[in-house]
Amino acid sequence: MGVVSKCLISAGPTREWIDAVRFLSNPSTGKMGYALASEAKKVGLEVTLVSGPVCLPPPPGVTLIKVESALEMREAVLEEFQNSELVIMSAAVSDHRPDFLSFEKLKKDKFPDQLKLIRNPDILAELGEIKLPSQTLVGFAAETEDHLLHARSKLITKNLDWIVLNDIGSPLTGFDSDTNEVTLLSRNEESVSLKISTKTEIASGILEIIWK
Ligand code: C5P
Repeated sequence: MGVVSKCLISAGPTREWIDAVRFLSNPSTGKMGYALASEAKKVGLEVTLVSGPVCLPPPPGVTLIKVESALEMREAVLEEFQNSELVIMSAAVSDHRPDFLSFEKLKKDKFPDQLKLIRNPDILAELGEIKLPSQTLVGFAAETEDHLLHARSKLITKNLDWIVLNDIGSPLTGFDSDTNEVTLLSRNEESVSLKISTKTEIASGILEIIWK
């Protein structure tokens, strides 16, 4: 049997804690990333899934690394990156974290009226800078407007091989839905659309295109 290729996937939201009971986050459920991890395993890849907090069972046969914040996700992803031939970042990483953290629950009258935010590192862009020609790097673009324009610009600025454009403006393709509809754009100017189907079918379609 030949050497098994390794695949690294990020999924889910991140949580940026403010105090013991409050955080900044987004409605990502991790369904798309978990479906990609299951399908990648099925096509024979050795899969590591770095996941923010979600309510999904771990995909069988996949190494699951659980994280919470964007900084933790970055650390886990960078640790695995060099050994991975295929890297798919589908996590909805919080772009900001509060510059303030209390380990106790703050009383209402102690909670700050204004929160100062710090920009989180862009994990995918960092990977784009260090990636080798032998690695395939895939990002997601969740857009509500000027979809193709934004996706193309991310493909270039983050130095990706493929970007998966996801219209989150519709309830059938948004964060918590079981279905999705995507367009894949490649650095070689290929463009492939996958019509609305279950996230499992979309995941399988994405892998067929990016991992030939
Ligand atoms: O620029 P934007 O956040 O829309 O890009 C989305 C892509 O970048 C996704 O693949 C997401 O996983 C990744 N990303 C990241 N780190 C961030 C923000 C986004 O890896 N801080």
